[in-house]
Amino acid sequence: MKDNIAYTNSYELENSYKKAIDDWQHPLHRTCSRLGSFPPELAHYFIQKYSDKGDRVLDPFAGKGTAPLEAYLTDRIGVGNDASPDAYILTHAKVKPSSIEDVEKRLKELENNYDEPDIENVDEDVKIFFSDHNLRQIVYLKRELGDSDLEIFIKSLVLGILHGKGELALSLPMSHSYSMSPSYVEKYSEENDLEKPEKNVFEAVRKKADRVLGRPLKETKGEAYCEEILDLEFDEKFDLIVTSPPYYHALTYAWDNWLRLWFLGHNFKQVREKLIQTSDEEKYENYMKDSLRKMYKWLKPDSACIVVVGDVTKKVTENGEKKKKIINTAERLVEPAKDVGFETDIRIINDEVPEEDKYSDYIESEQGVKIDRILELKKGDPEETEVKTNWKIPFMSSQDTLEDF
Ligand SMILES: C[S@@+](CC[C@H](N)C(=O)[O-])C[C@H]1O[C@@H](n2cnc3c(N)ncnc32)[C@H](O)[C@@H]1O
Repeated sequence: MKDNIAYTNSYELENSYKKAIDDWQHPLHRTCSRLGSFPPELAHYFIQKYSDKGDRVLDPFAGKGTAPLEAYLTDRIGVGNDASPDAYILTHAKVKPSSIEDVEKRLKELENNYDEPDIENVDEDVKIFFSDHNLRQIVYLKRELGDSDLEIFIKSLVLGILHGKGELALSLPMSHSYSMSPSYVEKYSEENDLEKPEKNVFEAVRKKADRVLGRPLKETKGEAYCEEILDLEFDEKFDLIVTSPPYYHALTYAWDNWLRLWFLGHNFKQVREKLIQTSDEEKYENYMKDSLRKMYKWLKPDSACIVVVGDVTKKVTENGEKKKKIINTAERLVEPAKDVGFETDIRIINDEVPEEDKYSDYIESEQGVKIDRILELKKGDPEETEVKTNWKIPFMSSQDTLEDF
């Protein structure tokens, strides 16, 4: 216990989400991988613990929409916001998924009307990643797909295969989680004689839909927004917040998703302006304090706010010597959280490497690997429910869940 902070470890939680097998999650979570996402089982655990069916659950930094989708799958109303348009599209697709029949029908129409668009004016950086054959089809989808729920869902499927290594990937083999630098990819592919794939893009999108939908989904009342958090307002309050803000001095979401943003008609430099991304510790803390103030205001009395943040390493020079300084972001947010009104008894759950004795080695390692920490904040005295989920049953064979699907 340090001040009013109680510490524990995610493995020590009763029926911990750390027991979840890989297949436990709904395949829709796998639409598109994106750096900085938390695991669905983490969101599921806290949603079960701190909310009831029918409750409103918010993630104001929703990323690919993990928490809103878990809220939806457990009969809550999942609401997600993210200032980055790629994250908004993925979150929207999670809270308003389409049926496989609707996706197939629309893809057929698009394919039948395909007109081999001109790609001469496409940015040279984009051309590095795709064969002309694939790029034409991608540019066609970029032009044709609009803003209906169905078309946003199809856009999310395209984002999921736009780049990667797998069978459905449309680009030169590269990371699936983030858009790589064009100069690096160009050099690497030349040196390794990599070939740009030629595919039927419509067919690849259809296969992706098959994989992530698997089973029909029920109607949902979820909501998705694309606002800078400090500009966001809600008419209705929430029963729970489960979120993970940008980490101090860490990920560069706009650049990491530049190719996906291109597909959606955005320039990453403009998107970057709207995102919290700073190496100034004071600026970061002030920003987070303003964000926490908003979250406190959006919550109903007696509710919880779960904030996942990681330790980050920062290079500093002390007495002329270069050093790595570890910043425990979760602890840094304790005082700002109390200042905006959260209860003073706060729990921090360390979400660390499996072997108990690895902990200290891990934190002191030169690699600067971060540890995620979960800040359990309370407004009043929220009710807690025992989490009974069986983490060993694959989602697709889960009897509990199948009743509803
Ligand atoms: C750690 S990630 C969230 C990951 C998410 N929990 C998931 O599982 O995918 C933080 C998110 O905050 C978003 N973000 C950054 N600055 C923001 C701002 N000012 N307002 C709203 N969202 C912002 C980023 O685009 C990023 O998706």
